[in-house]
Amino acid sequence: MAPQGSIRLISMCAGQGRDVIEVLERHDRALDVRALLVELDVQLAEDARQRARRAALGNVHVRVADAFITSAYRDAVPADILLACGVFGNISDSDIHATIASLPSLLARNATVIWTRHRRDPDLTPTVREWFGEFGFEEVAFDTEEGVLFSVGTHRLIRDPQTFDPNQKLFTFFGDGAGAHQ
Ligand SMILES: C[S@@+](CC[C@H](N)C(=O)[O-])C[C@H]1O[C@@H](n2cnc3c(N)ncnc32)[C@H](O)[C@@H]1O
Repeated sequence: MAPQGSIRLISMCAGQGRDVIEVLERHDRALDVRALLVELDVQLAEDARQRARRAALGNVHVRVADAFITSAYRDAVPADILLACGVFGNISDSDIHATIASLPSLLARNATVIWTRHRRDPDLTPTVREWFGEFGFEEVAFDTEEGVLFSVGTHRLIRDPQTFDPNQKLFTFFGDGAGAHQ
């Protein structure tokens, strides 16, 4: 459970933001959460904005921006929770590694990262989990089901955060995102 007070949340490549908004709209701490959803697609971002408005979540902000550069998150760091959902299936392995390496500069002490990735052959998730360890995270959970290719990882930062650099490049997104959840 997060300590009392405000909780900063970042969602990279947020889409319609349903994984944030649909949780917050029935969560006791919803009004403590200041969320920044970064999404490149104007229409999806507008959908997210309307959902947040309908749910009376005035602290959910949606930014139309390219999530690849850390400046996109400038006013939302250091985050207590960061979502990288539907991202790691759409960027290169080396960009996944580079993104995980950069996360401590976007995060507060003890922050939690929730990420997703398919497990299609060759399953990269064991390596991704090792990379989180390499960059100062401990694994809280790794959830998947037999016969399902989708997986969700949860990692907590256990080393000191790093200084925020607004000019750091994280990844190049390829594809239309469709493969990320299979
Ligand atoms: C697979 S979807 C994931 C959406 C959401 N995070 C989820 O898990 O349901 C990938 C999203 O990334 C967005 N996207 C693609 N390239 C992006 C970029 N460079 N910056 C920000 N968003 C991007 C797409 O428009 C799409 O909404």
